[in-house]
Amino acid sequence: MKALVVYESLWGNTAAVARAIAEGIGPEAQAMSTAEAAPQALSGVDLVVAGSPLFAFRLPTGEIRETIRRKAASFSKPPDLGHPPLRTWLETLPPGKGRAAAFETRIWWSPGGATGAILKGLKKAGYAPLAWGRRFRVTGMTGPLKPGELERAREWGVHLARQMR
Ligand SMILES: Cc1cc2nc3c(=O)[nH]c(=O)nc-3n(C[C@H](O)[C@H](O)[C@H](O)COP(=O)(O)O)c2cc1C
Repeated sequence: MKALVVYESLWGNTAAVARAIAEGIGPEAQAMSTAEAAPQALSGVDLVVAGSPLFAFRLPTGEIRETIRRKAASFSKPPDLGHPPLRTWLETLPPGKGRAAAFETRIWWSPGGATGAILKGLKKAGYAPLAWGRRFRVTGMTGPLKPGELERAREWGVHLARQMR
């Protein structure tokens, strides 16, 4: 079973969760940013797990990334905008036929989420949902992750790998 955990991550929290999920899935899984996960990386993939931060109650849009870019100096740590938004990555995802799972990082309460849009994009490309979307929590606007979240992510990876058997 080949698995790919793809992420958009401006401050590294979603990237850290993605790596922990891949670790939990096992050695056949790799975590990659949206820039690294080129169409060739998806060839023969049985499970695609994709995740993003929640910005303004949803999967990051081009507009919010532009606002963040303009206000980059106001954040405690500079944002990494060097990889494409997951939204764009999903829109250009070549057809596949594996399974899908989605996650998001967020502070907490929100009237909306990102995982619904992620699963919808994966499904449109042919990846059938394997699990409900998962949320991982950060403690502030740019992180860090709450204690225990990386362990939860690893456990979820183990669970997804079991579901695939
Ligand atoms: C501009 C902006 C908007 C955000 N909007 C939300 C939000 O609506 N709900 C929420 O729970 N967290 C929100 N957050 C917190 C992010 O979801 C959190 O920082 C995220 O985990 C960052 O992930 P990353 O380090 O992978 O970029 C926001 C953060 C920023 C900078």
